[in-house]
Amino acid sequence: MIETNNLTKTFSDVTAVEDLTLRVDEGEVFGFLGPNGAGKTTTVRVLACLISKTSGEARIGNYEIGNDADALKIRKIIGLVPDNVGLYEDLSAYRNLDFYGRLYECTVAQREDRIEHFLKMLGLWNVRDRAVRTFSKGMKQKLAIVRALIHEPQVLFLDEPTANLDPEFQKTVRDFILELKHEKRTIFLNTHNLDEAQRICDRIGILNTKLVAEGTPEQLMESLRLGLRYVVSSGNRLVIDVSDPEKENPGIMEAIVAAGGHIQFITEKHATLEEVYLKLVRDRQ
Ligand SMILES: Nc1ncnc2c1ncn2[C@@H]1O[C@H](COP(=O)(O)OP(=O)(O)OP(=O)(O)O)[C@@H](O)[C@H]1O
Ligand SMILES: [Mg+2]
Repeated sequence: MIETNNLTKTFSDVTAVEDLTLRVDEGEVFGFLGPNGAGKTTTVRVLACLISKTSGEARIGNYEIGNDADALKIRKIIGLVPDNVGLYEDLSAYRNLDFYGRLYECTVAQREDRIEHFLKMLGLWNVRDRAVRTFSKGMKQKLAIVRALIHEPQVLFLDEPTANLDPEFQKTVRDFILELKHEKRTIFLNTHNLDEAQRICDRIGILNTKLVAEGTPEQLMESLRLGLRYVVSSGNRLVIDVSDPEKENPGIMEAIVAAGGHIQFITEKHATLEEVYLKLVRDRQ
């Protein structure tokens, strides 16, 4: 659904994104991670046809980024929740959404149905007539998500949608993203929240101007494990890296007992996406 090939974007002397090649399939939640200034927002802005690419290729569905005739078609099938939400503060939530619906040429019935549907899903239906300036940051963030969905886009770009949200709001938005995935929409999610990425993304890309790693969360964690085989003891704890626990653990336990050791607890420790991320990003600095 989204495909890039050696996509590069430079701003005068700054290379923001270099030779990015990736593919996101229909119905997939793709998490895009990377340190501040890595080029995540720039990538999304190029893919959303807000800024031009410098070189390389990118496609959304059958449409080509950079082809003027396709830009309008791309805009019709994508929705964007930008990092800076930018709503009309003096208009009510409902009027904001209705305005965007009109821009996208949705019919009155479509606008009414969708606004009600999505505002109810995100718990904003009861405050629909309040001016947006009276909304909290989290409420505005949710409203920006509904705004991006008003024309029922197939592809949704979310640039840090849960930044600044409290844990409960974060969970609502995460659950909402998963519902959109079930509706077969393709989600491209920029986030700094590694736990969130690990929970909801089918695949993850780590960007640091260039793409540093790409894969399912499990593949990324496995790659860390393969790179680091270890036995560490600290105090009365022994941490042993095993590749096949069912096969290897009995022998290890027997050896500990035979050597006169007492085993109090055995617990399983998994690599987290955070460990993978920190290792990959630090290795490149
Ligand atoms: N309009 C612009 N003009 C000049 N440089 C820019 C512009 N937009 C972005 N950049 C530069 O491009 C690089 C990538 O920025 P970008 O905003 O894409 O990073 P990001 O990964 O989204 O970071 P963050 O996690 O902080 O949101 C940075 O060095 C930034 O200064
Ligand atoms: Mg950004």
